[in-house]
Amino acid sequence: MAFSIAVAGKGGVGKTSVSALMIRELLRRGKKPVLAVDADANVNLNEALGVEVDGSVGSIREAMLDEIKTLPPGMSKEAFVQLKIEESLVESEGFDLLVMGRPEGPGCYCYANNILRRYVDALSKSYPFIVIDNEAGMEHLSRRTTQNIDLVLIVSDATPVGLKTAERIWRLARDLKLDIKESALVLNRVNGIPREKIDEMVEGLGIELGAVLPLDQNLIEYSYSGKSLLNLTSDSLATKAVADLVDRYI
Ligand SMILES: Nc1ncnc2c1ncn2[C@@H]1O[C@H](COP(=O)(O)OP(=O)(O)OP(=O)(O)O)[C@@H](O)[C@H]1O
Ligand SMILES: [Mg+2]
Repeated sequence: MAFSIAVAGKGGVGKTSVSALMIRELLRRGKKPVLAVDADANVNLNEALGVEVDGSVGSIREAMLDEIKTLPPGMSKEAFVQLKIEESLVESEGFDLLVMGRPEGPGCYCYANNILRRYVDALSKSYPFIVIDNEAGMEHLSRRTTQNIDLVLIVSDATPVGLKTAERIWRLARDLKLDIKESALVLNRVNGIPREKIDEMVEGLGIELGAVLPLDQNLIEYSYSGKSLLNLTSDSLATKAVADLVDRYI
């Protein structure tokens, strides 16, 4: 069964970067193939991973509704969906990327969504590791997939307001009764704050501090020039912190 890691947090805190760095570290350790899932409707994990995307699971649902009456003889709905999901996978070295896209069109097509969900879950069984980059918030986790989550990383900046939001997201995940084995707080873009101060800020939150990722000039340079974060060198500050995170939880 796959070990699944979901990355959550409010907008712009570094979810996509942390997802890409986790994938990078898993690949470095030979823990592959990884299934990378971009569950953010504003598709962007592919850029951090340096691959191009031209389809999404969301568009399969539309195709299914359009084409269902004109399927080739002998092709079941299930086979059609499976084929389309396989076609939409972006295959790369050591990982495949699945882009969820927008799941909700006009009206609620719960039946179609459930079929998709089932296939995404089935697909994820072929990978030892899954990393899901979520959009801000937490509700999506329950809608996108039914499977259990082994580790939720809640990314936050190191500010009192940011931490309050992180705690809220964590509580929401608990209230949604998602099946989460472990969760950890990841403080990101931390610059010049002494460790004692960080411990003080985090104390009483109820969520464990998993890692502190420093503000990383290399990462900034890579993302501005559109380079894949998978190629960041191991002496980069953020990659080192993510290596410690993997040591600790995986
Ligand atoms: N440790 C870091 N050091 C320096 N810059 C960082 C670090 N982590 C992320 N960034 C930068 O911060 C910006 C936001 O990061 P990212 O896109 O990963 O956030 P996000 O939470 O996925 O955003 P969104 O909510 O829009 O999806 C990017 O420009 C990224 O390069
Ligand atoms: Mg993002």
